[in-house]
Amino acid sequence: MADLEQRIEHIKEKFEEIFASPPEVIVRAPGRVNLIGEHTDYNDGYVLPVAIDRDILIAASKSSDSIFHLYSDNFDRIATFSLDNIQRDTENKWSNYPRGVAWMLQKRRKQIGPTNMVIHGDVPLGAGLSSSAAFEVASAMAFQVLYGFEMTGEEMALLCQAAENKFVGVNCGIMDQFISRLGSKDHALFIDCRTLESSPVPLPSEEVKVVVADTTRKRGLVDSEYNIRRAQCEEAVSILRSYLPHIRALRDVTVSDFRRYGHQLPPTVRRRAEHVITENERVLKSTEALRHGKLSIFGRLMNQSHESLRDLYEVSCRELDVLVEAAWKIPGVYGSRMTGAGFGGCTVSLVANEAVDEFLERVPEDYKARIGITPQVYVCTPSDGATVIA
Ligand code: GLA
Repeated sequence: MADLEQRIEHIKEKFEEIFASPPEVIVRAPGRVNLIGEHTDYNDGYVLPVAIDRDILIAASKSSDSIFHLYSDNFDRIATFSLDNIQRDTENKWSNYPRGVAWMLQKRRKQIGPTNMVIHGDVPLGAGLSSSAAFEVASAMAFQVLYGFEMTGEEMALLCQAAENKFVGVNCGIMDQFISRLGSKDHALFIDCRTLESSPVPLPSEEVKVVVADTTRKRGLVDSEYNIRRAQCEEAVSILRSYLPHIRALRDVTVSDFRRYGHQLPPTVRRRAEHVITENERVLKSTEALRHGKLSIFGRLMNQSHESLRDLYEVSCRELDVLVEAAWKIPGVYGSRMTGAGFGGCTVSLVANEAVDEFLERVPEDYKARIGITPQVYVCTPSDGATVIA
């Protein structure tokens, strides 16, 4: 990965080359990895993600004609559109993220105008590290700096989520956009996805690293299975409401409520609900543990989260399980689990600093021996959420 300074220089030069003047603004928005709290965000629950040092950079200026000109440096493609007719682009799919954000801003009556952009990203695509959310948030930041509308970080995260739900057509929760906008360096971010209250939790980098391992299996099935899981959670709530009339989402069901009434649910729906209810509890406990430096407890809860996603929520796959098992074998790995929506994508591990080298050597070896391909492994530095660079 080229370092940030070099990438900034590169994107500036590209912008000048294409638009014959320097950009008015450069912004960056990071990808993310979730430490714990999977499939809880759309159940009004809790999550604990980290913004990573992989990001989308956008250089932008107001356009002198009435057209938006977008250049993707990664794909070497140009896409154009105008504000009075924003449509989804089936050829340049990457351009749907800034289009969706512009469309949503208009719907919310925020004044924006035609814009020139050069986009360059180093978040791996389709790996479950939220390159889409990073692109949406970077687009929204660029528009905000150029056109000066008022919008808090929380509002921007919600707007970007709405763009993804309503324009791009993916029914995601709030986690990815929220952490990309509001993450903070050296910290994970505890988010209550109902109230949108959040608080940073320090990650002791002198002791541990967050290591991401990519199965390199593209996440097939993910959209359809994701929607099925969401529907099953809603079904659980509607059945349990007969016994617990106050509940609005699985977030409101406690583990002891579930022990009392869980048997009222059909078996599959029951397993899904059990995952979400216990996962919320694990997020609360693990956040507490991290705040007190109890990394072993934190790691155990990560491992339990993986087992629950594998056995109850059924969103893991062989590649993810093999990567996680390879990590579990290494002394000094506090915990390891699949991260993100599942069905491929990445695992996240919390690794003692002195065990990182062994991890980097043995996990890929082990995975290669069992799956036949070499995974990508990244030691991540928890970074700030979206920032204006220049
Ligand atoms: C995807 C979605 C998030 C969240 C996770 C699962 O990353 O975009 O909103 O639901 O899956 O935790």
